[in-house]
Formats: sequence, structure tokens, C-alpha cells
Amino acid sequence: MKIKNLFSAALLAAMAIPAGAQTVTVHADKPGDVIPKEIYGQFAEHLGTCIYGGLWVGENSSIPNQNGYRTDVLNALKELKVPVLRWPGGCFADEYHWRDGIGPKENRPKMVNNNWGGTVEDNSFGTHEFFNLCELIGAQPYLSGNVGSGTVEELAKWVEYITSDGDSPMANLRRQNGREKSWNLKYLGVGNESWGCGGNMRPEYYADLFRRYGTYCRDYDGHKLYKVASGASDYEYYWTRTLLERAKDQMAGISLHYYTVWGWSGSKHSATKFDKDEYYWTIGKCREIEDVLIKHIAIMDELDPKNKVDLLLDEWGTWWDEEPGTIKGHLFQQNTMRDAVVASTSLDIFHKYTRRLKMANIAQIVNVLQSMILTKDDKMVLTPTYHVFKMYAVHQDATYIPLDIQCDEIETGKTMRHFAERKLPLVSATASKDKQGTLHISLTNVSIDKEQEVTINLNGIKATKASGTILTASVDAKNTFDNPNVVTTAPFKEVKINKGTMKVKMPKNSIVTLTIQ
Ligand code: AHR
Repeated sequence: MKIKNLFSAALLAAMAIPAGAQTVTVHADKPGDVIPKEIYGQFAEHLGTCIYGGLWVGENSSIPNQNGYRTDVLNALKELKVPVLRWPGGCFADEYHWRDGIGPKENRPKMVNNNWGGTVEDNSFGTHEFFNLCELIGAQPYLSGNVGSGTVEELAKWVEYITSDGDSPMANLRRQNGREKSWNLKYLGVGNESWGCGGNMRPEYYADLFRRYGTYCRDYDGHKLYKVASGASDYEYYWTRTLLERAKDQMAGISLHYYTVWGWSGSKHSATKFDKDEYYWTIGKCREIEDVLIKHIAIMDELDPKNKVDLLLDEWGTWWDEEPGTIKGHLFQQNTMRDAVVASTSLDIFHKYTRRLKMANIAQIVNVLQSMILTKDDKMVLTPTYHVFKMYAVHQDATYIPLDIQCDEIETGKTMRHFAERKLPLVSATASKDKQGTLHISLTNVSIDKEQEVTINLNGIKATKASGTILTASVDAKNTFDNPNVVTTAPFKEVKINKGTMKVKMPKNSIVTLTIQ
């Protein structure tokens, strides 16, 4: 059976295509919005070993480091071109008191990280360590403020500490702690999941709090804050509606969280042991974000027709059971080729909605949930998801090029009790044109057991050469500390161009990014 993704005229054409033939038509003549690089954002929370051990080992560690940051992780992140990094949470943000994380390390008080396993947090990674890290890797900082257990004054003073250049008490305290110049801060999240771990609030109450916090978080010395309201999770459309109705004029953006997860109670299933049904269920659940985006955006279009408020998907990704033998509550999970397909498929969807969707932050950057990097003592591995983000970096700040995709689909969920039945396309794709005018096309063969030949109709684009990179492995393949390069990229040559048509032979479970010349 065939599906239609974009234009109804194409449906007629699709009916003539025999099963097994997959076609992608490129509409370079109808360019869309620029894909903001912030769609490739990351998230780092004080959770498990994301910060301590993952990003930060301290200056005195035997693990090679640059001013306390792990050198191996730092280098890997530089290569990834991380555009924006959200910190310090997550749920942790609403219990975090920033003054505990400044000044001489030996004087910093400890706290219990109640959300994440009751681990004792020594606050050795604080404001200076975070902002200096952002400068080192070239990422914009995205600060999550404490609304749940903090005060308006506390958050207002944090903003002053970070951004004031004047003779102000907080700027002087910052100078006393070794930083003369203010740091660049644009994105300010006012709370996190305020409907849950961020205070269990009703949207009506939070909307007023947001207005109040927003009033006192001021713009200092040429800085202009972009204030983000703590938004809905998944299908909570009432939250988005209420916040916009009550506070849209005070916000630059509203957030949204969506995880590919089996459910919030009970087992979240293994990250590495799954069968075919579970694999297709996963891709179906991840694709469901498209419908969720469409519905939140429809509410925003209705209440904010001039498109002034942006949508920021500031947490997304897969959430599996913790790896056996790791600490409960630390959310350390392995990452397989299945996670890579979730990443590519999700990014393909995000590219379509950037009129409203201006940022996405995968959860999380190191050692937590669907991470880019895993570390253990002095060892580091790059996950399959890291490789997807690297292959897709060509789409950052490039102009979106719509595609019309016709492909086989599979029905999922039929044999699985309690879970939705979905129809799943077996090819996912996206395209963009960069500032130099070069066209890049990314393709995913979602099929777990079928090689697929994809025909790309370039629709008038003159192309003579296509070179590419491929990521492919068996669907449950993973990189481990003993075997770090099981899933890795390779040059891709299975492309033939003939009179405006390209034929791309894709192995099962594969992701390809092509540069068309
Ligand atoms: O990313 C892990 C947690 O998921 C975050 O702390 C929270 O915001 C969400 O529920």
C-alpha cells in the first residue's frame, strides 16, 4: 500500500508505482523556512553522570581534562556543532539554588538531588562552569530558572549576575568570583514542567506566576532575554491554550516535552533487547509527535495569528529502562541503531514545522536517556544518535526543501495489546539547501528486514554528482566501551544519477545523507 505525504496530485502518481518502489520528489522550486540551527539543541541536567563524570571531572582528575571539562567529550561536542545547551534541568532546575554553585568550591554547600536517586550534589559545577563550557563549545546557553521552589528575587538576581555589566551588586559578585564580563544569555526558561515536578501547578496559576517572574527578569546592558514559558507535555493541549490566553504577550516562546516512551509507570522496556513489533511500535510512537506538533501549533495559530510566540520542544527522545547494573534514578541507557532511526525520523519531522518550531533539545547530551555520548571512567563512546546529529549538521540554518514521499508502509501495533495501531512509512526523508546553494538530502530506510531502492526525482535540478555518508548496522547494534565502533559512519557510494533522477540503494536499517552537486 502507498501513502501520500504532501501533495494530492502526487497520490495519483503513487497509484501507478508498484509495491517495493519508493520515490521521493524534490520541490526545490518551493523552498520553505530556514531550519534554525537550534533544532539541533542539547540538554544537560544534574542527573546521574550527565554533568559529573560525563561533562565535568574537575581540574584534579586523572582523566584528561581542560579546566575540569573532559577533553574527549569536549572535542566530540565541538565536532557536533551544538547550537544551544539547556541547563541545569529538567526537574532539577526547580530545586536548584544558583548561589550554592558560585564562589570557592570548598565553600559551596551540598544538597540532595531528590528527583534523581537522592544523590548528593556538591555544587562544584555551577554558573561559571556552565557558561564557560558554552563558550568553549560555541553553544548558546539556555537557562532553566527555578520557579517551583525558588523566588522571583532569586531568579531576577541570577539574571543580573549573568548579564549585568554595570556597577551592580550581582555583577560585582560575579567579578569577585573571577568573571569580569557578562556572559551571553538569551534563552531563559521560567520553570520546567510546572504541571508536574516543577510545582504541580494548574495552568491558570502558572500563567500568573510566569507574568510575575517575567516582570522582574530584566534586560541588562544590551542583553535581550527571550523568555520561555514552561509548556505542556505530549497531548496536554489545554495547558498550551490556557498559557497563551493568559500570558502570550509576555512570552517569546512556550515549551513542549515529548518522549518516545511506553508509559510513565511500570517498565519502560529494554534499550537493547526488543523484537520487530517493539521496533516498529517505537518508530510509530516517535512519529506521533507530528500530530502532537500540528495540534499545539493549531492552538498557537488560533490565539497568536501573527506568529509572535515560538514553540520550543525543549525535551524529546527515547526513554528506556536503565541499563542493568546502573544506579536507579540515573537514567543511564544504551543507544542502538533503533535510537538512530528515532533521531533521523524525528529531525525529518521537525524540519517541516519550523515556521513555529524554533528549537528542540534532545534529552540528554551525555549518559542520560537518548544521549550523544556515553562515558565510563576514562572511556568514552559516541552513540548511533551522535552519528545522526553529525550527519544532519548540514541542515543547520539551511533552507528547508519540501519533499513528496511515496513509499510502502507497515501496520504496527496489531499484535501488541494496549498499544495504538499505526501505519508507518518505511522511508523517511528531508532536504535542505545550505547558504552556498548545495542541496543535501537525508534518507532513512526504516525497514528492519528489507533493502530498499529509493528513486529521487530531482525535478529540474541539474545534478552530476552525489556523495554521501551512511550509518547502518543491525537494528539492535550498539557501541560499547569494549567495542566502540560497531555503529559508525562510512562513505556511501550506492547512488546513480541519470537525467534528473537518482537511484539510491539503501540497506535495511540505514540512514544516509547525500550532498548533491
Ligand atoms: O529528562 C529527564 C526528565 O524528564 C526531566 O528532568 C524532566 O523535565 C522530564 O520529566
